[in-house]
Amino acid sequence: MSLPVLLLLLLCGGQRSDGGVRAEGVAACRCDAGHVCDCTSRNLTHVPWIPLLVEALDLSHNRIAAVTAFDLVPYVRLTALSLRGNRLRSVAGRAFRSLGRLERLDLSANQLASLNADWFTGLLSLTHLNLLDNPYRSLGPWPLFQGLLSLRSLQLGGPSLEKLQSHDLSGVGRLDVLELHANHLRSYDPGSLSGPWPLGTVTLSLWEPFLTNQTLAEAVLDDVSYPETPLTLCDLQMYGNASARPFAVVARRRVRSLMLKNTSLSDQTVVDFLEVTDGAPLNILAFQDVIFVGEGHVERARKTRHDGLDTFYLRNMQIVNLYRFSSLLGLGFLLRYPRQVTVIGAQAFVLPCLTSSLFTNLQYFDLSNNLLTDLTLAETLCHGDGTLRNLRVLNVSSNAIKSLDLAGRLVTRLDRLTHLDLSGNVLASMPGSCSWPASLRFLNISSALLRMVTPCLPSTLEVLDLSHNDLRSLDVVLPRLKQLLLSGNKLLTLPPSWKTPSLELLVVSNNALSIFSPDDLQTFGRLRELQAGGNNFLCSCSFVAFMATALSGATAEGTGAGGARFTDDHDSYVCDSPLWVRGEKVGGVKFSLIDCHRLAFVASLCGVSLLAVLLLAVLLRRLHVLWYLRMMWAWLAANRSAKRRRRRHDRKRLLGNNDIGNDDPGNDSLRFDYDAFVSYSEQDAGWVEDFLVPELEENSSSQNAPQSLCLHKRDFLPGKWIVDNILIAMENSRRTIFVLSSNFVKSDWCRYELEFSHLRMFQGDQDEAAILVLLEPLGEEDVPRRFCRLRKMMSSRTFLLWPQDEQCRDEFWNSLRAALNGDD
Ligand SMILES: *[C@@H]1O[C@H](CO)[C@@H](O)[C@H](O)[C@H]1NC(C)=O
Ligand SMILES: *[C@@H]1O[C@H](CO)[C@@H](O)[C@H](O)[C@H]1NC(C)=O
Ligand SMILES: *[C@@H]1O[C@H](CO)[C@@H](O)[C@H](O)[C@H]1NC(C)=O
Ligand SMILES: *[C@@H]1O[C@H](CO)[C@@H](O)[C@H](O)[C@H]1NC(C)=O
Ligand SMILES: *[C@@H]1O[C@H](CO)[C@@H](O)[C@H](O)[C@H]1NC(C)=O
Ligand SMILES: *[C@@H]1O[C@H](CO)[C@@H](O)[C@H](O)[C@H]1NC(C)=O
Repeated sequence: MSLPVLLLLLLCGGQRSDGGVRAEGVAACRCDAGHVCDCTSRNLTHVPWIPLLVEALDLSHNRIAAVTAFDLVPYVRLTALSLRGNRLRSVAGRAFRSLGRLERLDLSANQLASLNADWFTGLLSLTHLNLLDNPYRSLGPWPLFQGLLSLRSLQLGGPSLEKLQSHDLSGVGRLDVLELHANHLRSYDPGSLSGPWPLGTVTLSLWEPFLTNQTLAEAVLDDVSYPETPLTLCDLQMYGNASARPFAVVARRRVRSLMLKNTSLSDQTVVDFLEVTDGAPLNILAFQDVIFVGEGHVERARKTRHDGLDTFYLRNMQIVNLYRFSSLLGLGFLLRYPRQVTVIGAQAFVLPCLTSSLFTNLQYFDLSNNLLTDLTLAETLCHGDGTLRNLRVLNVSSNAIKSLDLAGRLVTRLDRLTHLDLSGNVLASMPGSCSWPASLRFLNISSALLRMVTPCLPSTLEVLDLSHNDLRSLDVVLPRLKQLLLSGNKLLTLPPSWKTPSLELLVVSNNALSIFSPDDLQTFGRLRELQAGGNNFLCSCSFVAFMATALSGATAEGTGAGGARFTDDHDSYVCDSPLWVRGEKVGGVKFSLIDCHRLAFVASLCGVSLLAVLLLAVLLRRLHVLWYLRMMWAWLAANRSAKRRRRRHDRKRLLGNNDIGNDDPGNDSLRFDYDAFVSYSEQDAGWVEDFLVPELEENSSSQNAPQSLCLHKRDFLPGKWIVDNILIAMENSRRTIFVLSSNFVKSDWCRYELEFSHLRMFQGDQDEAAILVLLEPLGEEDVPRRFCRLRKMMSSRTFLLWPQDEQCRDEFWNSLRAALNGDD
């Protein structure tokens, strides 16, 4: 098709009025990165719009009734298209014309009443075509599949197919698969199906022809029976006394493999079948989904020969009269031939020892999913006397066997037995020791409710399946074990490697493992494959890092995990803890550096903050910040309480004035209780008490009036806040004498007092309120820098130095008195 035509078609398609419905389709389909679009079961009524690059489109189980010439035009890359299970009544002749790359086309289970050869012209790549179960009565007047040169699989027919004509399959070459549903076939042109050759497998549903027109059935079988082509016949009801007749053709054409599916059989038809196939080289005879209405009396066929019979397979047999069914003994003449017998889901509860002993060639015996118990298994295996001596494989899975001990004893003399499958039984416990044949290599005891394992397990094992039990640990020595399957248990750790040194495959998925390390894996020196998904992984940094490289497909050397690869679904490795990554895929977790070195990070953070605190403390101490803070706070508090007191004072004075009507501004004694507040360090208390107080308070003379001093020791009100006390004392004193010494500068309280004197000055009192007395010569340098107030006072004010020389002291006292009295 040329490009302009394609564009035109595209445009036409775009202008259709049902664009809304088609737009919905985009949402209805799930398309993945591999260009596979899944639009199944979406109630679609039209082919939806989908990405143009789509390569596989599944539209099955919708309600699409028609495919127009334009619906599929844009999807030129399509290789697979399924329209199975829709309501297709009409498909335009050119509907698939643009799909030159189409390989698989499924139009089955629709309402197509006729087929159109136009559909398939140009589908040069088509390999698989399914036209089953549509109501067409014939394939039409013209050959349908002429151009389909690549066709390898063809499925056709349906409930209405009545006629097959000689041209129907013309043009079809070799086929790997031919399936024909022709239960109601009435007319068959001989040779119609003989065109394709070689044929891979053939499946035919020929219910009515087998019942009513065996000639027709024979004609069909004659065209598709070849020695190398496995033949499957479905939906037969073989009741009539002639219904087995067509198998004569099968025998004559030397078919080797025959399977009957969904078939009803009676004693009569079994005998008939054996008679018509007498001497045929049938190797494989299989029955699946069989309803048996007989009682097992088939002895009449005893004279037939079936020495080619190698494999007998029976799956899902329903015996209608189970309690009248005698035994297989009637088939005893057949039992010595097969090497492989499979009887699955056939309600078999016992095989009498008498019958078992007829299986002289038997190597493979599968009795899974039947009704065997300990008792009947013992009978079936002739109580362990070594009947079935050639047996290699015994499969008694999904029965009702309870004793592993007994099972061991029953097979211990089968000295060629290599495989024993006891899975799906109710073993529950394991004895301390058991006996096994020395040849046993493979043991399957999965889904057997085991809670623990014991040395009962044969040490010769190479493959051991213990999946889906209730195991918490595995503690047995199995030196030859190569494959150990333990999924679906409750293991908390990997099994100890030294007990299974030859292990190559280990499956521990869906257990309760939390973590394992490359070292753990390395101890399994020969491990090649590990499957451990679905566990409760604790995603530590090292684990995540290890798994990220291991899952990325890096080889053993890269991961340090020995030679092991993780071969199960990588998405099943999911973190369980820590909480913040719960549910995330192990391979997808990204930890930051902080996450990974949390402890170190926290430790160093603590260290750093501790250091910072220490540094700060040192700094604060060095800069006396605390002192400044305390000072400031005291200062603020003092300021506030000073104001409060002053207000109270003023009010009191105002009241007093009103009462007395006397205003005497010079009356200091009303304002001050003391002449001076003495601020001194405790260490200088001696000087104050020995010299200052006696001199100023007691040594009075005519010109020296006694001065009243306020000393904190003596005059402070007990119980009051010291800052308040200081302030009150200073406020109630006319002057403040600072007794300066090296001790003074060391005392905090003295410093406060100094500062508070400043407060008073600030409040407008005379600057001279402070008198400095130096007990020892003190330079400005001796005063710490932060005593800036003192330093300033010392530089701006004269001070009185306490003379060491006693003769000079009178002069000192005079000066002090003068200062106190306000003289300079
Ligand atoms: C399709 O239709 C049926 C019945 O009308 C409804 O039950 C079902 O949910 C629909 N499915 C979707 C995918 O819309
Ligand atoms: C059986 O089928 C053959 C072949 O199609 C036909 O010729 C014949 O008439 C049929 N017989 C009956 C009894 O329908
Ligand atoms: C089995 O065969 C019978 C006819 O013998 C048919 O009606 C039935 O649909 C078949 N069952 C299956 C599951 O194909
Ligand atoms: C088949 O059965 C019919 C009656 O059901 C009988 O007349 C006929 O003889 C039988 N044919 C054979 C070959 O047994
Ligand atoms: C035994 O039968 C079960 C069920 O059919 C099957 O899954 C299993 O693989 C068989 N075991 C052997 C050893 O063939
Ligand atoms: C063991 O038996 C179970 C159930 O029959 C089956 O699914 C599984 O594949 C068997 N294990 C092996 C290793 O064959």
